[in-house]
Formats: sequence, C-alpha cells, structure tokens
Amino acid sequence: MFKRSHTCGQLRQDHVGLAVTLSGWVNSYRDHGTDLIFIDVRDRFGITQLVFESDGVSAADMEAADKLRNEDVISATGTVRIRKGGPNPKLATGAIEVVVTSLTLLNKTDNPPFLPDDMGQLPNEEIRLKHRYVDLRRPRMQSILGTRHRVTKIARDYFDENGFLEIETPILYKSTPEGAREFLVPSRNVPGNWYALPQSPQLFKQILMVAGCDRYMQICRCFRDEDPRADRQAEFSQIDLEMSFVQREDVMEVMEGFARRLWSQALGVTVPPLKRLTYSEAMERYGIDRPDTRYGLEIHNISDLAARIDFGVFKSALEKNPGTRHQGVVKAIVVSAAQGAERLTRKILDSYSEFVKTFGAGGVPVVKVNAQGVFETGIAKFLEPLRGELTDRLALKPGDLVLFAADANNIATKAMGELRQKVARDTGVVPEWGKAWNFLWVVDFPMFERDKESNRWVAMHHPFTAPRHDQQQAFLAADPSDEEAIAAIVSAGYDMVVNGSEIAGGSIRIHDPAVQGKVFGLLGLTPQQAQDKFSFLLEALRFGAPPHGGVAFGLDRLIMHLVGTDNIRDVIAFPKTQIGADLLTRTPSPVTDEQLKELHIKSTWTPNV
Ligand code: AMO
Repeated sequence: MFKRSHTCGQLRQDHVGLAVTLSGWVNSYRDHGTDLIFIDVRDRFGITQLVFESDGVSAADMEAADKLRNEDVISATGTVRIRKGGPNPKLATGAIEVVVTSLTLLNKTDNPPFLPDDMGQLPNEEIRLKHRYVDLRRPRMQSILGTRHRVTKIARDYFDENGFLEIETPILYKSTPEGAREFLVPSRNVPGNWYALPQSPQLFKQILMVAGCDRYMQICRCFRDEDPRADRQAEFSQIDLEMSFVQREDVMEVMEGFARRLWSQALGVTVPPLKRLTYSEAMERYGIDRPDTRYGLEIHNISDLAARIDFGVFKSALEKNPGTRHQGVVKAIVVSAAQGAERLTRKILDSYSEFVKTFGAGGVPVVKVNAQGVFETGIAKFLEPLRGELTDRLALKPGDLVLFAADANNIATKAMGELRQKVARDTGVVPEWGKAWNFLWVVDFPMFERDKESNRWVAMHHPFTAPRHDQQQAFLAADPSDEEAIAAIVSAGYDMVVNGSEIAGGSIRIHDPAVQGKVFGLLGLTPQQAQDKFSFLLEALRFGAPPHGGVAFGLDRLIMHLVGTDNIRDVIAFPKTQIGADLLTRTPSPVTDEQLKELHIKSTWTPNV
C-alpha cells in the first residue's frame, strides 16, 4: 500500500492511537541493533519518525527496514504514539512517532549523488543542476517553490480585483529589434522564414489595448539571448501589465499597491509610500539608475571647488568635453569612521584604482582626515587649499576617508556608482537580508542614450516608450542631428527599485504614429525597415489607439528578494547555466540532419577536431 493517509508533516499529539500510512523518502536511518530501527521519512510537507520494533512487524519488513538507505522511497503503515525518546522540538511532528506494522519499498535508489540536506555540505552547482530532482527535494528549495507559487497567486488575485484580464500572447513571434539578441525558430512551412521568441509581450499587450481590453496582465515567459548574470537569465518570467486611458501616476499607483500587497502578504512587511528620484538625481547622488539607498556613501560633485586648485589630475579631467553633457567633473565619496573607514586598508584602497579602470576611469585619489582634521596621503598637499571648504561641504570628521574620481561626467559617474557599492560591501554597511527594504521610483529617464560601440541612439527603455507628456512637442521639434537636444528629451518611463535592484520597469507608450515614426528614425530604422518590422503596430496606432501604459515586474527578481538569495538560479526550478545550458536535460543538443533538412537549414558549424 502506498496511498497515504497523512503527509509527513501532519501528525500531532491529537493523532495518537490512529492507524496511518505515510509515504516519502528516507531522510535518515538509525539502527539500534536488530530489534529497533528508526527511519525519518520525508515529503514536501515535513519529516516524521518511523519506528520499527521486531515484535511489531514481520521479520521480512524488519530486514527490509534494516537495508533502507537515504532517499529510498517507501510507504509505511503503523500507529501513532507519543515519541518514546521525548519530543523533538526541531520537527513539527516531533511530539509523536509512528510504530510501523508494515513497510513497502517503492523505489530503491542508487547511491544518491548528494543528500538533499540544507544543513549538510552541498556539492557544486553543476552537480546540483544536473541532478535537480534531488536538489529540489531540499526543504529550502521546496520553500522557494512554495513562495513562487504564492507570489503568482497573490498577483493574480490582486490584478483580478483591480479589473485586469489575464490574456496569453504568442511565444512564436516576430523578429523585432527591441534591444536584446533574440532566439530564432525556423519555419518549416514557410522556408527561409523565422519566428523569434518574444523578449517580452510588449507589442501584443499594446495591441490588446487598441483591441479594447483596457487592463491586461499575464505571468509570462520572456527570452533574451544574452549572457546570464547573477540576476539575469536568458529565459525568465515577468508579471506583465498594460492599462488604457492612464497617465504615469495611474500605473505607478497600481504597481505600488501590488508591491505593498506582496511584501505584506509574503513577509508581513509594510511598505511605506515610495520615494521618487529622477534619473539625473539618481545618477548624481548614486552614480546608477537603480540606487541602493540602504546606506549613505552618497556621491558629491565638487567640480566647482576642484577647479580652484592646481592639481593636474583634477585639472585635466575638468577640461574634458567642455559644454557637453559629458563635461569633465570631480566627484567624491566620504567613507566616515562611523561607516567602517578603518576597514579600508591601504591594500583595499590601492585596489580601487584597478577596479575603476574597468569602467574607464584613471584611478581613485584618496585623502584621510587625521585626528587634527588635517588631510593625509600623497595628494593631501594639492588639496590643502580646499581643506576648509571641503570639510564644511562634506561634513568631514577625523578618521574619515574621501575617495575622488576625476573624469568625463559619464565615466566618473559610472566609476563612482560602482565604487560606492564596492565600498559598501568592503566596509560591511550593506544590511543583512530582511533588515531593510528601501523601495523607490526612478523617473524621468532620458528617452535615448548613445551606444558607444555603434555610435547610435538606443532607446533607454524600449522604442515604444513615449516622451513625458510635456516633452512631446520638444521631441517632435528636435533636430535629429542635434545630439544635445535629443539627449535632453525625457521619457515617460519609470522603474521600481528595491535595495539597489530593478524589480520592475515600464512606461506610458507612444500612441501617435508620428511620434513612433520619429523614434524609429532616430534609432536608425529607415521608413521601409520600420514598415517591414512594425507595420502591424503602426497600423494599429492608426485604427483607434487609446492612450496607454504599463509595466513588467521581473518575477524571478521579486522571488529573489522575498526569499533572500542573490542567485537567480535558486528561484527557478530548471534554470540555465552561464552558457545557457540546462544540465539536467543536456540542452542545447544536436539534432539530426533530417530535422535540419525539413527546416531548410544547413549548418555551417563544424566541430573542432
Ligand atoms: P524590462 O526589459 O525592463 O521591460 O523588463 C522588466 C523587468 O523584468 C526583469 N528582467 C529580467 N529578469 C531576469 N532576467 C533577465 N534577463 C531580465 N530582464 C529583465 C527586471 C525588469 O525590471 N516590456 C517591458 C516592460 C514594459 O515596458 O511594460 C520590459 O520587458 O526586473
């Protein structure tokens, strides 16, 4: 018999005397001689202690129990009794044990590659992913899957209450230049033609607004052929939304309500009204568009002071790109004694120069404020004339360190933004998981940024994001060749950030074909290319498009925050590795020549022999 009467997490003192059947995996075994064997049996719901006593069970079952090993699958029938050895407070079922009367071995396992034990030593991730079915048996992983399930349920309930319809959109989609590289799927029926997997359902949800659906939501899969990172997968999930007849505030209100509901129901945390930062404020104060505001270490622009001294490093930086948005600047971060400045050893401080070089900056000059308030270190003498003003402006105290970056604005900003986060990690000021939840909005992004490699405009959100309502005329009037004018146009986009991670991004969309056409032009699409790629959108915009806007939450990232992991693979049942491989199914994998032929594809790849 394996039909269970209860789960392994269910039995309590009230059940004493009851005949029960439990089924599950052998979590541990203890053999107390030939007469007494203890087996802990585990399922998704918990662990229960089984007791085999030689006078209560057949000799054959006793022998079978003796041979049980970790991860064997069993079913046991018996009677619940108070745990003889005294309660085990570590188990929810710790008050009782089940004295077994019969045992069925349902599946004898081979020697398991590792034990699904959160307390024990886990093997490397490759082995865990290869044997994901063992890894997912771990209570921690089961709990994460449970959280993921609850989050999607909370989302569906919340958006349902707010009038959203869940509508599915196609996975076999059209190749469109939206940002990331796409995964392509060949068409068998239309030789030489391809589908692409959607980077997001962006255009379908906009079309659904033109179709009068008013409020759409979908928990959807998105595909982007880019290198996975700690918080990025090539295949990931979004809670995707779109709303008609709305302005930015309306979408933000619904999103904020969802974040509040989610944190309250999942963690019992009350999220206060979200603060807002403009993109330029975020870049100025934190050097990044998704600032972690759980700690200070704000960036100060001291270019005006730096211009007054004769220090070559500052001087040459300030002379860069005059009159443009990339004009040279000098920026500073203060690491106060109270924030662990003493943890930044000489060696660590020296390593910062190397660190910022990866972002194009030259180095990190440092001064230390000594007990008398005097600057120390090699560059102190150059900064001496500014000591009074710097001390006032930066509120310097003895023991503080000041780190500088001097470069073109974009380079110094990026370097300082990254350095700030590194300093926070090195000084240990980043709060532990669960101790602080700093939500905020970042708004007023530029519409476009210049891609360094191609020297072209790219859309900062995506090409369907509208200019902010008061920027529409300026955008239509802007001369496409006037780089500073185009760079100054602000979009109607918004990102939600928690603890330095972007958990959602969205915007009010363009619903005017003229504006959309101009955006495509700036992005380098000829009218013909725009027509080829996006005729369906441009047409839809001409046939009754309501003003609309929306957003997508990164579902995986939400779960990462809610369960406290910085590895996105922990929150996805079957994730992919750095090279996009699924180690369990050994995917990607070769296909036969016949399959390729049927798809009219000839492979040019030859294995290295
Ligand atoms: P965006 O590209 O900003 O917007 O994505 C929305 C949110 O999805 C999450 N996210 C990712 N999560 C894991 N792995 C990835 N590779 C990945 N890329 C993005 C982030 C991000 O905030 N269509 C628009 C949304 C809109 O405008 O409505 C979009 O996809 O948390």
